[in-house]
Amino acid sequence: MSEKKIPNIFLIGFMGCGKSTVAKELNRQFHMPVVEMDELIVKQEGMLIPEIFSTYGESYFRRLETKLLDGFSSQSGCVISCGGGVAMREENVALMKKHGCIALLTASPETILGRVEHGDDRPLLKGHKNLQDIRNLLNQRLPKYQAAADFAISTDNKAAFLIALEVYQQALIHTL
Ligand code: S3P
Repeated sequence: MSEKKIPNIFLIGFMGCGKSTVAKELNRQFHMPVVEMDELIVKQEGMLIPEIFSTYGESYFRRLETKLLDGFSSQSGCVISCGGGVAMREENVALMKKHGCIALLTASPETILGRVEHGDDRPLLKGHKNLQDIRNLLNQRLPKYQAAADFAISTDNKAAFLIALEVYQQALIHTL
């Protein structure tokens, strides 16, 4: 019997939905190497994300994301924690589908606000850290997140290790 290999798992979803935490758990439980897209971009550019946005603009940052995704053709069995805007571009979704499966993590606006309240590393939330603005942006993005995803998992009031387990199981099911 041939053994099924776990594909790359792309974690998508809104800021604060737990992508980085779940990626770390997938590494801890299943030894999947983690790729943190935001971290890689910061390293590569030698600049923090708010600085990249203010110096070169958001579209420059979006092009960096696409270029990075394009480089995943040679990888397998990795978990890729995507920035919250990655699934907004059709070409990114096509690249993710080609190189793995796509897991959407969701959370309520209340949970998200609680998780993003502190810290100023997210330029899109500057001056918008309130429930109404988060709800608006989330509603705007949700259809695209849902259309891109192979499966979705809620992260509200759930321990990270359980979410990671669910993601792993679903990813296996989706490769059968
Ligand atoms: C963004 C999300 C951020 C980061 C950038 C833009 C977005 O990543 O890529 O600030 O457009 O939602 P996280 O989702 O990891 O916070």
